[in-house]
Amino acid sequence: MAFTINVNGTAHSVDVDGDTPLLWVLRDVLGMTGTKFGCGMALCGACTVHIDGTATRSCITSVDSIGDSKVTTIEAIGATPAGAKIQQAWLEHEVPQCGYCQSGQIMSASALLASNAHPTEADIDDAMSGNICRCGTYMRIREAIKLAAQTNGKAG
Ligand code: FES
Ligand code: FES
Repeated sequence: MAFTINVNGTAHSVDVDGDTPLLWVLRDVLGMTGTKFGCGMALCGACTVHIDGTATRSCITSVDSIGDSKVTTIEAIGATPAGAKIQQAWLEHEVPQCGYCQSGQIMSASALLASNAHPTEADIDDAMSGNICRCGTYMRIREAIKLAAQTNGKAG
């Protein structure tokens, strides 16, 4: 069945079963391989994308549930204000190790910063707790999010 989904500002028509996870539509149909497969069960966060700005696990999001919502992936997050700040902070703190989890980490961090310009430590923990990093880059992730938030100016 054909579905039209909006990914990174472009409408794509895809011919797949309605229960196909968005993750596989992105990777296998649209060739956007920046979004990663880890667990397939919403447990690791590697597959995180934004749907209408909300961090969402694409491995458990069926294509027929998306409708007119706007999907944003790691390929385009740098074009958003929060995503650009997060990516710059990631570079400055040299966050990635193997890199596999990092697109999901950046997507969760960007969603946090877009909705909360000055997250507390607890806010960061809460937003990032579902993103697993086998390399243990958690401390650098935390510092990078704080650095990105500093570029939002002082909390009012
Ligand atoms: S692959 Fe989706 S949460 Fe792990
Ligand atoms: S950088 Fe290797 S799993 Fe996170």
